[in-house]
Amino acid sequence: MIFIDACLGKETERTPVWMMRQAGRCIPEYRALRKEVGSFIAMTKNPDVVAKATIMPVDKFGVDAAILFSDILNLPMEMGLPLRFEAGVGPIFDETISSISDVEKLGDGSEKLSYVYEGVKKIREQLSDDKALIGFAGSPWTIATYMVEGRGSKQYSKIKKMVYSDEKTLHALLEVNTNQTIKYLKNQIKAGANAVMVFDSWGGALEKEKFFEFSWNYMLKIADKIKKEYPNIPVILFSKGTGLYLEDMLEGNFDVIGVDWNTPIEYANKIVNNKKVIQGNMEPCRLYSKEATKEGAEKIANVMKNSKHIFNLGHGILPDTPWENVKYFVDLVKEITKK
Ligand code: CP3
Repeated sequence: MIFIDACLGKETERTPVWMMRQAGRCIPEYRALRKEVGSFIAMTKNPDVVAKATIMPVDKFGVDAAILFSDILNLPMEMGLPLRFEAGVGPIFDETISSISDVEKLGDGSEKLSYVYEGVKKIREQLSDDKALIGFAGSPWTIATYMVEGRGSKQYSKIKKMVYSDEKTLHALLEVNTNQTIKYLKNQIKAGANAVMVFDSWGGALEKEKFFEFSWNYMLKIADKIKKEYPNIPVILFSKGTGLYLEDMLEGNFDVIGVDWNTPIEYANKIVNNKKVIQGNMEPCRLYSKEATKEGAEKIANVMKNSKHIFNLGHGILPDTPWENVKYFVDLVKEITKK
């Protein structure tokens, strides 16, 4: 698998490519499937639908890796916080965490996610052998932001109040989330995932020292546990909004560092200096135009031509992206990165 080889730092005939949020609403067949099933959460709970939605972008775009169709919030949902999605708002937890006793009430969600593990098995049976399957979870900090705030937030005032005035409760929650995530990812690997990725979408909400204390160190703990048990399974860590902290993010037992689109690729490449494989980082909105896509992809390919690299976007695809442009991007990357 070209994707796994590149993650592990091996030479490949070209740079592998996939995209964050490649499964989803930019694909017309996905929208039809969701209409048929009814809701996004119901889709994630049905292993046959999970397999179908996971493989869809591989067939449509020809990417080198599939990412499990699920959500970072299924784990906290199964730990005991009812989850719903509201149009125009996004995910909502009506019950939230505000005290140690709330943390103590959380259950073992990793045991209730058998629908995910069944989905992984089905995907691996149906996916061609040269395509990798990426399992994933949210970072302990990022899922905690939803568990404490109850929904997406601009200010993060509730959880940041904990950062500065009740760190004991927050560390207790992060510890629980970390242990749950380790179990969850190990189960995905046992079911057939070939690599795992941790998404820290809200790491950039924290100033540098607090980011390392409340987010990155927990991500490193997850990576370390996975790598010790599964040395051949690549671990990818992605934090959004933390480009300026990169130089302190290069030590640790993981393989690939995701770089977001705000971070200039020349800067990231210079700092990372092949100590880890870089994954990223085209601005997803370039996909609205073929010309902008070509310009963005060529620039990244040129900067990264002698460095360890996996092509991706610098965050998820937006739902109204024309799928033809997505296909154009994947074909172009395959062409221009040939050795
Ligand atoms: O294609 C893939 O990347 C695989 C599946 C995947 C989804 N969510 C499916 C999804 C992955 C890896 C995620 C991760 C995720 N989910 C993150 C981290 C990455 C990031 O984007 O920063 C976060 C923060 C979430 C939480 C979440 N899930 C939000 C805020 C939303 C609503 C916003 C939106 O796009 O509607 C979701 C819903 C969601 N997760 C959808 C999909 C395909 C849309 C569901 C639909 O309306 O059909």
